[in-house]
Amino acid sequence: MAPLLEVEHLTKIYSLGGGTKAGRWLKQRLTNTVPHQPRLHAVDDVSFTIEPGESLGLVGESGCGKSTLVTMLVRLSDPTAGVIRFEGRDISAIPAKRFGRTADRGRIQVVFQDPHESLNPRHTAFDVIAEPLRRLQAMNGKALEAKVRETAERVGLPDTLLGRFPHQLSGGQKARVNIARAIAPEPRLLVLDEPTSALDVSVQAVILKLLDRLRRELGMSYLFVSHDLNVVRLLCDRVMVMYLGRVAELGPAHDVFTEPGHPYTRALISAIPGAAPPGGPVRLEGDPKSPIDPDPNACRFHGRCPIGKELCAGTAPPWVPLGPAHGTACHFARR
Ligand SMILES: Nc1ncnc2c1ncn2[C@@H]1O[C@H](COP(=O)(O)OP(=O)(O)OP(=O)(O)O)[C@@H](O)[C@H]1O
Ligand SMILES: [Mg+2]
Repeated sequence: MAPLLEVEHLTKIYSLGGGTKAGRWLKQRLTNTVPHQPRLHAVDDVSFTIEPGESLGLVGESGCGKSTLVTMLVRLSDPTAGVIRFEGRDISAIPAKRFGRTADRGRIQVVFQDPHESLNPRHTAFDVIAEPLRRLQAMNGKALEAKVRETAERVGLPDTLLGRFPHQLSGGQKARVNIARAIAPEPRLLVLDEPTSALDVSVQAVILKLLDRLRRELGMSYLFVSHDLNVVRLLCDRVMVMYLGRVAELGPAHDVFTEPGHPYTRALISAIPGAAPPGGPVRLEGDPKSPIDPDPNACRFHGRCPIGKELCAGTAPPWVPLGPAHGTACHFARR
């Protein structure tokens, strides 16, 4: 079967500051030099696939590019380079502005981090869930009402709450409304960007269970973004670990946990209470390097890596296969 989603060499680079365009032009004329414009490499040459019905977890620390990748995949922002193929169609060529009006908008849906922020305070729960059905499928009347009620029931949202506004709902109820809105148009791919991190711990577990059940019932694929490697282990078939815009490791969840190849993955596992990665725990110190103008000939993890050697400072690591579906970008990967 062909993959549902194929991502090849996806890259997002932000050109930073340097004043206004006119200011830069003037400076160039006066000094006869081309002013350097810093470039922030938020996502850099990322490739992976998602199969139908599969859930892929995406982990990595704050600022490594998870949300930037998500906004490109759900076509809310345009890539700098690379290809996104959905059901075999190249959707990266469609400008983000136009993508909202294509049929694929309903087939790729997203749930963002904060249900408190992402709900319009002037819309009732009913209207929130109905919005994509009205806009994307021109549904109305009895059919719309039936679809909204059916979707609410699926996510465990009582009928009596559908007339309420967001401020009249609990955090868990708001999360359910948000999920209902995303699954109402029956997407094939649901992208979840830290869907529970704004919720109380007790509610988090309930919502994670709901998401797991919905995927099985509806046969959707997930890209599940999380800080929490433990959550990803429980919910995902495969895991992708990102570090400073690059893929550090990718493989079946079980293999990545039991035989992590990259020292950064081992550090993430070491941070899970009670976990013991093979080869002993790895504790990280300091902060990641800057994502601005990174050295193309160095490993991004070098300097913070506990096993890094001179080679890592002068040669970017190749992709090293560790198993049929498992690989890592490290010169000194544990095999
Ligand atoms: N519009 C923008 N302009 C310039 N830089 C940006 C922009 N959006 C994000 N960045 C930078 O891109 C990098 C990746 O940010 P991103 O939000 O994707 O990280 P993240 O992995 O989602 O982090 P978190 O776990 O905190 O949500 C960061 O260095 C961030 O500062
Ligand atoms: Mg983010």
